[in-house]
Amino acid sequence: MRRKLIAGNWKMNKSYNESQILAEEISKNIEPTITENTDVLICPPFISLGVISEIIKDSGIKLGAQNVYSENDGAYTGEISAEMLKSVGCEYVIIGHSERRKFFYETDEDVNAKVKKALDNGLKVIVCVGETLEEREKGDFEKAVTAQVTGSLEKISKESMRDVVIAYEPVWAIGTGLNATPEQASEIHGMIGNTVSKLYDSDTAENLRILYGGSVNAKNAKEMLSACGVDGALIGGASLKPDDFISIANEASKIK
Ligand code: PGA
Repeated sequence: MRRKLIAGNWKMNKSYNESQILAEEISKNIEPTITENTDVLICPPFISLGVISEIIKDSGIKLGAQNVYSENDGAYTGEISAEMLKSVGCEYVIIGHSERRKFFYETDEDVNAKVKKALDNGLKVIVCVGETLEEREKGDFEKAVTAQVTGSLEKISKESMRDVVIAYEPVWAIGTGLNATPEQASEIHGMIGNTVSKLYDSDTAENLRILYGGSVNAKNAKEMLSACGVDGALIGGASLKPDDFISIANEASKIK
């Protein structure tokens, strides 16, 4: 069975001090039995990555960033490189979140360039895909998600796919309290697996972890995480509440 991954996306929340308190609460209270069989990841804002890397170092919790740029260095004011993220202890980076696609106009091409650069620098990537409400209502969701998966993975080698995680996050379910049903999630996760199998092969698809994201909380986590093809969750709002985040990770660790 694929190892589950529970990832907390803190988005643009928590000051430098507040983020340390949150990281301490999570790392002090999480049971080692959870991180033994489940990958638990937190993705704080850039400014807190370095200090949090120290806070979580003996807790079994992993560190990730929420974005990265597709160049190594140079005159790109305001951007952060993959090497910089590695240097503060990041193992993962979230790429192509729907908020980046919507507010910062990131295209599949941009996402693909970032994925390549991050993988080349030894980071693991969580590539986000998901349809809008309009695409879901029109029945275009399979086409939309397949295009995102294909575009984001263009020219990514089969070997590199070991370090790729896909997060299926229907845009209409993010931060809205509306979550996809386990059946809807399973359907799309299966479809993503088929797309990856066609792009690579069945082994690559078999080893690929696909997370669900969109209003996952302590109450619905068990149901969503037990759905067929769901290998974990990308969590926004509930990842800012230490008890809820730990309880979701605990549910994941109990699923056989
Ligand atoms: P949410 O966010 O859990 O607050 O819906 C999920 C995400 O955007 O990754």
